[in-house]
Amino acid sequence: MMGAEPLLRIEGLKKHFPVRLGAFGERSAVVQALDDATFEIIEGETLSLVGESGCGKSTTGFAILNLHRPTAGQVIYRGENIAIFDERQMRPIRRDLQIVFQDPYSTLNPRMTVGEAVGEPILFHKLCSKAELPGRIERLLGDVGLPGRFAQRYPHELSGGQRQRVAIARALACEPKFIVCDEAISALDVSIQAQIINLLLDLQEKYGLTYLFIAHHLAVVRHISDRVGVMYLGRLAELGSRDQVFGAPLHPYTKALMSAVPEADPVAERSRQRQILQGDVPSPLAPPAGCRFHTRCPIAMEQCRSVVPEWREHEAGHFVACHAVPA
Ligand SMILES: Nc1ncnc2c1ncn2[C@@H]1O[C@H](COP(=O)(O)OP(=O)(O)O)[C@@H](O)[C@H]1O
Ligand code: SF4
Ligand SMILES: [Mg+2]
Repeated sequence: MMGAEPLLRIEGLKKHFPVRLGAFGERSAVVQALDDATFEIIEGETLSLVGESGCGKSTTGFAILNLHRPTAGQVIYRGENIAIFDERQMRPIRRDLQIVFQDPYSTLNPRMTVGEAVGEPILFHKLCSKAELPGRIERLLGDVGLPGRFAQRYPHELSGGQRQRVAIARALACEPKFIVCDEAISALDVSIQAQIINLLLDLQEKYGLTYLFIAHHLAVVRHISDRVGVMYLGRLAELGSRDQVFGAPLHPYTKALMSAVPEADPVAERSRQRQILQGDVPSPLAPPAGCRFHTRCPIAMEQCRSVVPEWREHEAGHFVACHAVPA
């Protein structure tokens, strides 16, 4: 169930990556991967982030977890700005804030058994005695729908779905409050995707977890989200309840994205107007001035080229950054 309290408050969060360009790396430049993101993550909710590949979704997840040190801005957790914490200060908090990736191979050491992989964070955070460990691992495997004997197996002996279950068990091992699911189902077969989604929803209910769910599959996002944030080229374009964003989108980019989602109702589906976005996403090395979407926006106005639209609450809980949306 959704509580009302924010678990995390993100204010003006920014992540820029310095990069070297040219055949000899002779030029330096900055990738503006995330700019000025301000939003809350409510305890117990599933907040999804959507947007085209490269728009900064993963960077947002990494910056919130301080896996990539933010360039500017704040991430308030339990009254403290963890965005400025060093690794030593982060250590006790790492327990609470976990991440599951698209590719479980990136978190699972091929030479470690499933039991060792799930037990490692428990030992690291000293959450139980050595004697209690096997029972705890077995319980975690049970939580993710795997038999206890899987503790003896190696990652390569498992299917993709089973490996993702192990990655989830590992994330669960230190009893987290918050999990970033970064495309956690995107690499799986559709039938397996549904199983993993149901598992995540069951675990959320059982343990009161809060999710930041990063995905590009909008039908899945509509199914599982309480709220949805839409990103474009490193900036939040819109954020609101699932019904606000899917049912009454405000931002032209959201409208274009949503017009590509098939309607379940065949009558609505027949009258659906698909809006095709023209052109490619510009480079985050040199994002357009003003509204970053103005080069592709069908209703761009003069001021959109120079004035950054303010991020504001248009109606209760429904945030948008667009000059064309009346105040
Ligand atoms: N470590 C990095 N160094 C330089 N650029 C990066 C790095 N990580 C991500 N980027 C760039 O930042 C932008 C946002 O990337 P990302 O957050 O991964 O997008 P998404 O998850 O939405 O696909 C992209 O242009 C990407 O190339
Ligand atoms: S601010 Fe202007 S360019 Fe940007 S989405 Fe709104 S109307 Fe389009
Ligand atoms: Mg990503």
